[in-house]
Order: sequence, then C-alpha cells, then structure tokens
Amino acid sequence: NHPIPVIAIDGPTASGKGTVAQRVAEQLGFHYLDSGALYRLTALSALRHEVPLNDEHALSKLAEKLPCRFTGDQVWLANENVTNAIRAEEVGNTASKIAALPYVRRALVGLQLGFRQAPGLVADGRDMGTVIFPNASLKVFLTASVEARAERRYKQLIGKGFAANMANLLKDLRERDERDSQRAVAPLKPAEGAHILETSRMTADEAVEQVLKWYAAVKRHA
Ligand code: CDP
Ligand code: CDP
Repeated sequence: NHPIPVIAIDGPTASGKGTVAQRVAEQLGFHYLDSGALYRLTALSALRHEVPLNDEHALSKLAEKLPCRFTGDQVWLANENVTNAIRAEEVGNTASKIAALPYVRRALVGLQLGFRQAPGLVADGRDMGTVIFPNASLKVFLTASVEARAERRYKQLIGKGFAANMANLLKDLRERDERDSQRAVAPLKPAEGAHILETSRMTADEAVEQVLKWYAAVKRHA
C-alpha cells in the first residue's frame, strides 16, 4: 500500500477522461497527470524531427529525453507552448501509433510515476489502472458510445479553431479504439476492480460527482 492516493481514470478517446479527471483533481486539491499528453508530445516531437514512425529505438530515445513541462493547464516542449498543437488529430493519431511500441511506453514510465506527489494524484489515460498505478486507491473506466464521443470531439476541435468533419472523426475514433484496444502491450481495457461509468447520457459534472462519491466510499473503508 502506497501512502499517496491515486485515482486512475482510463477510457477510450473523447470519453471525457481529461475533463472529468481535471475537475476531480481540482475538487480534491490533488495533482493531475494527463498521460496522453506525454504520448502526444512524443508524437509531435517525432513529427517535427521527421523520425520514422517505425524506428522504435529513435522514438524511445525521444520519449526518454522529452523536454516537457506542465504549468497549470499549459504544456511546453522545450521553450514552445504546444498546448494547442498537441491536440491536433494528426498528433493524436500519431500518438496512438507510437503508443503501441513497448520501448516508447517503457521510456515514459518514470516520468509518469513522478507525478505521484502528496496530497494525491488523479491520472487519466489508457493504462493508469492496469499498468502504471495498479495499486491506485480508485480505478474508473469512463466510456460512451462512439457517436457521443465523436460529437464531443467535434465541438472541442471547432472550439479550438481546428477544422473538423463528423464522418472523418467517426472513422478516426473507430480506428483509434481498435488500435488502442487490440495492441499487445497495455491495451485499453478496464482494470481489475475498476468502476465502469457509461457517460453517453451524462454531463461531465454528473460524471465528476459519481467519481467523487466512489472516492469518498473508498476513503470511508480505508
Ligand atoms: O484525448 P484522447 O483520448 O484522444 O487521447 P489521449 O488520451 O490524449 O492519448 C493519445 C493517444 O496516446 C491514445 O490514442 C493512446 O493510444 C495513447 N495513450 C496510451 O497509449 N496510454 C496512455 N496512458 C495515454 C494515451
Ligand atoms: O480526455 P478525453 O479524450 O477522454 O476527453 P476530453 O478531452 O475530456 O473531452 C471530452 C469533451 O466532452 C469535453 O469537451 C467535455 O466538456 C465533454 N463532455 C464530457 O467530457 N463528459 C460528458 N459526460 C459530456 C461531455
């Protein structure tokens, strides 16, 4: 048993992990880890340096020495603010490809564990409860229909000034779901003991409320 609590929130793309995890962290005064951002940063770095996406060795070196910083909700790569750049669909798709490479995943483990600091951590991604924090105090698997998720992503992209097309988004999401759940290492699946939360007909705030209730119950029984 680890003295610093972790709430692990995993789920498919655009299920609301980031939004829900950040709000839960805020409510509890916990730190927040957006593990997907680390894969996106590695992807952006690879695209910028034109590293071939099948060169696992070079990609894992990039991941190992990722010059990234997080300040509030801003993300930095070296001295460049890449908060918006890493949200582009091309970067997400590239992230999902390189995330299937075992050495890339391994290179990012230490960085992720380092986020576990007092008084606690809320971490979101694909393998927070299964691989990175198997001893998390609470594990949640957030999900929603592919249509609901495509709609959420569409609104988000338009809001950030990116172009978006619903049919393409649906296709991208299906491909990404398939890749993330079929890969050999750390595939997307609910961790043992995870609470499943289906949010197709829920607001983000309702999902936050449910997670906080589960966490309160965990603490009562501790
Ligand atoms: O926001 P969205 O769910 O689309 O993606 P993300 O969480 O930012 O992650 C981008 C990609 O990184 C995902 O498609 C996953 O393939 C990969 N990822 C992963 O493999 N493991 C994690 N813990 C987080 C992300
Ligand atoms: O991190 P992930 O890719 O799973 O999702 P996100 O980046 O948090 O995006 C989810 C989007 O859907 C945000 O714009 C939320 O406001 C919205 N949303 C949600 O997160 N949860 C709901 N139950 C309903 C909508």
